[in-house]
Order: sequence, then C-alpha cells, then structure tokens
Amino acid sequence: MTGVHVVGLLCDHRVDPLGVDAPAPLLSWRLESDRAGVAQTAYEVEVDGLWSTGRVESAGLGVRYGGPPLASRQRATWRVRVWDEAGTVTPWSEPAEWEAGMLDRDDWTASWIRLPAPPFTRDQYRPAPFLRGSFTTRGRVVRARLYATALGLYRASLNGARVSDDELRPGWTDYSQRVQYQTYDVTPLVRQGDNVLGIVLGEGWYCGHFGVFPQRGNWGPHAQARAQLVVEYEDGSVDVTGTGADWRGWFGPILASDLLQGEIYDARQSLPGWDTPDRDASAWQPAVTADDVEAPLVAQRCQPVRRTAAVVPVSVTELFGKYVFDFGQNIVGWVRLRVSGPAGAELVLQHGEALHPDGTVYTANLRAATSVDRYIVGGDGEEVWEPSFTLHGFRYVEMTGFPGVPGPDALTGIVVHTDLPETGSFTCSNELVNRIHRNTVWSIRGNFVDVPTDCPQRNERLGWTGDVRIISRTASFSFDTAAFFAKWLADVRLARSPDGFYPDFAPWTGPMREGGPGWSDAGVFLPMDVYNRTGDVGVLEENYEAMAQFVDVVAKENPDLVRVNRVGMNWGDWLSLPETDPDQGRQGGPIIDSVHSTTPKDVFATAMFAKSAQLVGRAATALGREDDAARYARLAADIRRVWNERFVSDDGRIEGNTQTAYALALCFDLVPDELRALVSERLVERVSALGYMTTGNTGTELVLPALTAAGRLDLAYALLLSEDYPSWGYTIRNGATTMWERWDGWTEEHGFQDVRMNSFNHYSLGSVCAWVYATVGGLAVDESVPGGTRFVVRPRPGGGVTWAKTTHRSRAGEASVAWELSADGNLSVDVVIPPCASALVDLPGRDPVAVGPGRHHFPA
Ligand code: BGC
Repeated sequence: MTGVHVVGLLCDHRVDPLGVDAPAPLLSWRLESDRAGVAQTAYEVEVDGLWSTGRVESAGLGVRYGGPPLASRQRATWRVRVWDEAGTVTPWSEPAEWEAGMLDRDDWTASWIRLPAPPFTRDQYRPAPFLRGSFTTRGRVVRARLYATALGLYRASLNGARVSDDELRPGWTDYSQRVQYQTYDVTPLVRQGDNVLGIVLGEGWYCGHFGVFPQRGNWGPHAQARAQLVVEYEDGSVDVTGTGADWRGWFGPILASDLLQGEIYDARQSLPGWDTPDRDASAWQPAVTADDVEAPLVAQRCQPVRRTAAVVPVSVTELFGKYVFDFGQNIVGWVRLRVSGPAGAELVLQHGEALHPDGTVYTANLRAATSVDRYIVGGDGEEVWEPSFTLHGFRYVEMTGFPGVPGPDALTGIVVHTDLPETGSFTCSNELVNRIHRNTVWSIRGNFVDVPTDCPQRNERLGWTGDVRIISRTASFSFDTAAFFAKWLADVRLARSPDGFYPDFAPWTGPMREGGPGWSDAGVFLPMDVYNRTGDVGVLEENYEAMAQFVDVVAKENPDLVRVNRVGMNWGDWLSLPETDPDQGRQGGPIIDSVHSTTPKDVFATAMFAKSAQLVGRAATALGREDDAARYARLAADIRRVWNERFVSDDGRIEGNTQTAYALALCFDLVPDELRALVSERLVERVSALGYMTTGNTGTELVLPALTAAGRLDLAYALLLSEDYPSWGYTIRNGATTMWERWDGWTEEHGFQDVRMNSFNHYSLGSVCAWVYATVGGLAVDESVPGGTRFVVRPRPGGGVTWAKTTHRSRAGEASVAWELSADGNLSVDVVIPPCASALVDLPGRDPVAVGPGRHHFPA
C-alpha cells in the first residue's frame, strides 16, 4: 500500500461509542501509509446528513462536532478524507459511528426498582436480588438498545445471555451527584415474541464497603436498578419497555457480595433459566418501585471494566490440609473455580499478595478487607464459577474445602480492569529493567478500575489524586488514558470544597474535601496531561474554571505565596526514607522507620503551587485567554522567586537537603539558571553519599531525570539497576511482580512493614518508567507540541544495557525507537515516525536532527 489512508476514527477517544451525552464530541483520526514524509495539509469531515466541515486547511487530526445537536438516541455516521503534503486527496475513510444517549431526564420512563430485602443493618450481608421483566415483540426488530444503570452494581441479561462482557457496572461516581448509565446494543439478543430481561444487583461502592470507611451503606442502604429497552421495528415504530412494578424478583445463589470482603455463592440455590421466557416466575416476589434518583444519569464516557486475561497457576502446594495456588503474578480481579463434589461442600478462597515464611497466605496488609470468596457446591457434575460483584488484589489463593485433590485447573486467575487500549511497549537487554517496566504496567492495569486507585487489595482502593498525578506521565505513554482521565476529572471536580480546593481523593461523599499539596494539584496536572496527549482543548474547556479557581484560592489563603495554609492532610513527599547522615551511612538507624515526608512540607507544597500556577497559565494560553495566561505566568514567577528566597541558599542548598527537594527544584524549573549547576551538585552529593534513593512517592519520579539533566547518567543508571535495599531491584529480588507502595514493604532484616500501610501493588514508584521510556528507550512525546505529533528521540545508553526497543502509539500513530550498541560500543538507531508527525533525533555525541514521517536509520 503506497497510498495514504485515513484510519483509526475515534469519537471522544473511543471506537463507535453508543450512548454519547456530549453535544460536541471530538472526532479524531490518523493516517496510515507506507510512504515516507506523509503529512496532512487539509481535512474534510462529513457527518452524514448533519454536518460537513468542508475542506479545512489544517494539520490537526481531530475536530469537535459542530453540527446541529443530536436528539436522544440519534445515530451519526461520519467519515473523513484528507489532503496530503502534495495536495492529493485520500479516499474517504471507512465510516464510523456514534449514537447519542438519553439526553433528557424525561427520556427515562422506566422506574427505579428493587426487591424488598431484609432490613439494612450496617454489618448484616444480604443476598443479591435477581430481577426479571417480560416483554413481547410484535414484528421484525431492526435495532434494540438497552439503557441501564443501578445504585450498587448490576449485570443485565436478555433471554439468558449477558448483554455485554463488561464488569462492575455502572462504575463508580459520587452517586449523590451523578450516576453513570450504559448503553448496550442488544439487537441480536431480542427474540420474536416473548422475551425476558434480567438484572442481578450487587452492593458495590454504593451500599457495600468502600475505602477506609468501616461501615457499609455510605451512599445508601439498598441496591436498585433502572433499565429501559428501546426496540425499533422494520416499519419504523418503536416500543419502549423497562423496569417497573410488573417486574418480579428472587434471592438466588449470591448470598452476599462486597467489593472488599468477597462473595458467597451457594450453587444449590442457582436459578437455571431465570432470565428466559421458559421459566415460570409467577411465584416470585413483585419488585417495588423506588423513588426517583435526584442525581442526573450520565452516559459512561470511558472504556468499560472487562476481564482481559486468564492466568494459570505456576504452582499448587498443599499445606496443613489447604492448597495454596501461586499465580506467579500479583493481579487484580478474581479466580474462576472449577469443581465437582457433593452438594453442600463449602470452599473458602482467601486471596493475598504474599506468603508467610511457612508458605501460608499473608493477609495482615489487607487490613479490614477480608478478600474471601466462598462457594457452596451444587452437586451437579462439574461446576465452573466466577464471582460477579467483588474484586481482589492477589498473587496467591489459599483454598480450603476442595473435595479431593485440586489440579492446577481448579483455579484460574482472571485479570479485571478498565480496558484501555495499550499504547506503549518497552524491552531492553537488561531483564531487571524489563521487570521494573512490567511491574509498573501491571500496577497501572490493576489500579485503573473505572477510577484510578491507590491500591487494589486492602480496605482503601480510593481514587487518591496524588498517586495518579505521579503516574500519569508513565500511564499515558503505556495506555490511552484520555477518556479515563476525563471521566475521573469530573469526579474530582465534584469532590471539591465549596471554595474550590481539589480533594485528596475522588469520588467522595462527605466533608473533608481539601486535598494536600501534590494531591489536590492533580486537578491541574491531569487535564494538562490529557491535553498534551490529545491536543484537544475540550478537556481544558471542561476543567479550566476549576483549575483557575483552585490556584486562586491557594493564592488567597497564602498571600505571601509560601503554601502553608489550607494544606489539608499535607502528605508531602509521602513515604520517603530518612536522609541519613552520609557519615553514618546505613548505620544511622533502622531504615524501616520510613517517615511520611523527609522533605519539609512548605518546600514541597510551595513547589507544587508554583507548578500548578504555571500549568494554569499554559492552559489559559491554549484557550486563548491572554490576560489569564499573563496573570498566572506572573503568579508562577512570583512563587518561584519566593521559593528561592525562602528555601534556597546561595550555595545551592535547599532547605531539608533531601533528594526530593533538589529534584523538585530541577524538574519543576524552580531555581534560576545560575543556581542550577550548584543545585545539581547538591543532588549528586546526596545520591552519591547514600548510594540509594530516599524519595517518597513524588520524588521518585524526578530523581533520575534530574540526574540525567545534571550530566550524571551513570548515577541514574546505578539507581535504576541497584538490587540493594532500597531500590526497585531489591523489591524484584524479593519477588515483586508489581510496584510496592514503599521501598521497605519487606526487608530481609525486618520482614513485612507496618500492616497499616503496606500494599504490594501501588503504582507511584513505577513513575520512573517515564524516564525509562525517554532515556533508556529513547522515545518521548514532546509535550511542548500538544497532540502527539512531535517526538523526542534521545536514547542515552548506560548501565551496560546493549539494546532497547520502545514503541508508543500517539494520536498520530505508532512511533518506535530501536537501538543497539555494537561490540565496540557504537550506537546504531532505527526510528519510525508515523504520518503527520516529526521527531528531534538527538543521539549522544552527534548533532540533533529533525526527521519527518517514515523510517530512519542512524548507523553506528
Ligand atoms: C494511600 C496513598 C495515598 C495516601 C495519602 C494512602 O493510604 O495508599 O497512596 O496517596 O494514603 O497520603
């Protein structure tokens, strides 16, 4: 294929989405060609019967829909063609589609329903209601859509078949402010004549346990559902049916379900065919209609949570009559059980991330989350079961009660997370670096579950803002995070204090909304990350007012610009290690006593303030708000000046004298040029004196880039490749298959860290991968040109690494860098740049060159 083709059409970052609420979704595309040098000079987007841009002279790979607003459920078909650098027009792309959701509250005619249940008590688990309703079709159906949601979690089926492969619907929001609904194409499932729609309800975040809160029922006491089915016939007529007083329900085999505690399933009580017309449900209890829910129903706007992989155990060990399954990888999801045995036999599945020395599963770090599934055998031959409404973070499962001796196929690990497209890859000659990368990707995967969470296993699993701010750059290289972050940013905006402070975590219900510095600032950093990746100002339009209000309120509360007031829980450089006096070295006391921030809080908080002010200024520039841009740039400069006056000495020493303080100064560009060299020296001094990193979750992202900028690539590699405590390598040497929450999660001397704060699957320390991609791999997206159309190719081989290959699919397409050192140490590099993009290729010891789309070989 030598021509140019328009491919990869996305509507609001997704492929052919159904149920779109946004009146002006972003329509984007990319070009594909085998030819070098392909660029777009103009485009034309045509939305069938509604809108056409005509020919627009632009290199932009997307445009917001500007036609007449779609009506509820209206379908739009669109296509694109472009003019290339020679002025040749491409063929029209294959058509793509989107379909509007239920745009008006009045579109919802179905009622909220629930099944009268045992009274809610805070600690009494309740069985899951199975609800069903019947309807009859009266002609040939050409299209059928199910719009469904719940307070709690739901799973819908039509005539015995699940309507979709997604999980944990409707996802997590602050249900008092908005509730997501899903739109499913159920056309193939609708039958001629009698049909039955089924819904099973779980407790989920809404009425089960969530976060650190000891009680259940934080949003409400009862799970309830709303579903509306719209059936369109060949003759153009439409039937609308849905949940209502005519529905019936029963409590079936799910005796209890809770996201944190697990699920109890009694197969003897299963309800075969419960959601088909063949089953007579006349004896079932009538459902009751519930009050309307005040919060608006909003269309799900990001990719769904799905089961994405199955992991077979690497070993099964018998211990004291129990069987311990090791999946070889810390995953998030659940297990599929395969069992045959006598009716009533009860199996207990305890999930955990680590083992005690005696080989039993360690659960103390789960805190109050029990993470136990129970299965009671039905006794009817081979039974295969997976839970419906729970989630576990685990590498091991301890199984009790299996009838007989389980084979390895008795349990299969099922990986569950928001199914974002993977956009990055990295491999190199060093297995340790590969493992650091894999551990990071596994942690990102498992902690992105409709919301970016801190951890997946203990009673926490909250959308902590600080953690995702730290990992966002790495995550957005590895995955297409645009829709996911845009959804969560709405949760973040809704969790603000009345005067505009961003929260520590979102979604959230209740008081205490002022997040700490570095956490609250995520409300500013994340929109910029999405903008940098997509080039779409829409995300800034949605967030700008809140971003500006936040920086304004921080400034108002801290008139002398040192950020010490209204700092919430003020976490600082969370979980950093003491900067032991270099003379004392490691003998300076047990390092297990990591403290919550060795970097002074005011140094840390004010640095974040400067960065946020600068980012708001950049957002203002992107939005064409010149006055604001100038105002926030001035504010950022003032904060920077104050930061220097207060915290930086003429010899480059920064108050606290921590690696993080120096790395912040260098990476956030906080010190004047004339001090950079001295500050760099100080950082080098701190790192060389100790030989390891003392950084907490924020500083860890910054030390290697700062050392690299300081000309000490050797030290950066030494830290990356160290296997001594504390280091990434130490965690891997001790079995880590995901990123740990803290450097000292487990040490040879002290064993497990304090159980109150010791997750083995937290992504923050994986933020080093942004540096791994850019510096070991040599591929980065140039953030000064939003939209992923300019790359920086700057591999810096070191640490004995002899080759690396890195890819990233930006909005323009896939770029790759593969480099290799010859036996005599000469570097050769192969670069691929997608159409419409360019790269600065900056190889060690050579003059930087600019290259365009195509393949480029740089010989040794
Ligand atoms: C979480 C962190 C979070 C922190 C606030 C912890 O419990 O796991 O990752 O950012 O609280 O400091």
